[in-house]
Amino acid sequence: MEKLRIMSVFGTRPEAIKMAPLVKELAGRAEIEAICCVTAQHRQMLDSVMNVFSLKADWDLDIMTPKQTLSTITSKCLIGMDGAVDALKPDMILVHGDTSTTFAGALSAFYHKVKVGHVEAGLRTYDKYSPYPEEMNRKLVTAIADLYFCPTENNRRNLAQEGVTEGVFVTGNTVIDALKTTVRKDFVFTTDILKQLSYEEKKIVLVTCHRRENYGQTMEDIMSALAEIARSHSDVELVYPVHLSPVVQECAKRYLGGIANVHLTAPLDAGEMHNLMARCYLVLTDSGGLQEEAPALGKPVLVLRRETERPEAVEAGTVKLAGVVKEDILSMTHQLLTDDKAYAAMAHAVNPYGDGKACERIADAILWHYGRGGKPEDFTAQ
Ligand code: UD1
Ligand code: UDP
Repeated sequence: MEKLRIMSVFGTRPEAIKMAPLVKELAGRAEIEAICCVTAQHRQMLDSVMNVFSLKADWDLDIMTPKQTLSTITSKCLIGMDGAVDALKPDMILVHGDTSTTFAGALSAFYHKVKVGHVEAGLRTYDKYSPYPEEMNRKLVTAIADLYFCPTENNRRNLAQEGVTEGVFVTGNTVIDALKTTVRKDFVFTTDILKQLSYEEKKIVLVTCHRRENYGQTMEDIMSALAEIARSHSDVELVYPVHLSPVVQECAKRYLGGIANVHLTAPLDAGEMHNLMARCYLVLTDSGGLQEEAPALGKPVLVLRRETERPEAVEAGTVKLAGVVKEDILSMTHQLLTDDKAYAAMAHAVNPYGDGKACERIADAILWHYGRGGKPEDFTAQ
């Protein structure tokens, strides 16, 4: 029997981290030829992940430009994908999550009448403009996809409410599979500042902030809050690996540059980042991925957004929505830095997002779809 040609398409840092263990799982299956096509919507941040997970792309669209717009990303991906699909002839294309690469990858597959599997399906805020453009991207991909790999039961319910019940699997999130390969007790940092920090004596606050809907005054308010947190808590060391978006770089440096206990670093590679998260005190972030990773590592998270499509860890009590108003961010952070009971109530490891076997379930589900194996059991959170 011929091997199934399963092509994973991704282009940004979070997609790459979450697809890396899946590409490897697929490559390990005798019935599958795993193909890897990158759009390089992110160039440096993608290459860093490829390096950490020892992945090699079979096809690279190399589309990134500085300050790229949503239209240029989507159109360059679509045109580039024509060549990739014609040359590599996949039976199925896998896309991940909700980026412009995700949407363009799924649309291209549809134009070529190739089946689509959506990894990390069913997340919703039901606010068209927040997160922007991600909420619309994932809805559009839902309309195109044939198979849906939902991280949680809650995600499956979201799809069911929209009438999508065929080809839906609850697998857990592949990010937990990735974390299991990167986090180690004896990990040794290579980044200078991470080698120098005193993890026992200081409270290390890990920050990331990059969302497009926060660009402008909202991001200024967040940065201003971060500056005040650092200035008013001498026991804190704030570590902020700044996203390479020029908008974010400029804003972060203007508010946070020159503050002694703020460490603005280049983006960290996934190994450094995950192990820093494992050793930090608290996470402040607007990132999707960090909202999933930190709870698994027992770290409280304050989300710098108005809503979240990841309510599971909020329900489990390890994540709180801080919002984007400066005073709210200040008071919620201050409480976690000064009130041991409030901190302890949030700092317990929970795994609502997965058990590290998501990739195995997804590979099984694909083989089942083609009549080449049994149906995987759904992931259920403990
Ligand atoms: C994208 C995704 C977002 C995801 C985020 C993860 C879209 C529309 N947005 O947003 O969902 O949460 O990635 O980080 O798909 N840049 C570099 N080098 C890099 C990466 C980015 O220089 O390695 C700079 C470039 O100037 C680029 C800009 O950052 O134009 C913005 O990148 P882009 O992919 O358009 O948006 P993100 O905010 O990264
Ligand atoms: N990450 C990383 N280095 C960094 C910042 C983030 O490796 O300097 C990882 C993080 O641990 C998570 C993923 O990148 O796995 C999240 O990416 P990002 O926040 O850019 O995107 P989002 O998840 O919000 O889409």
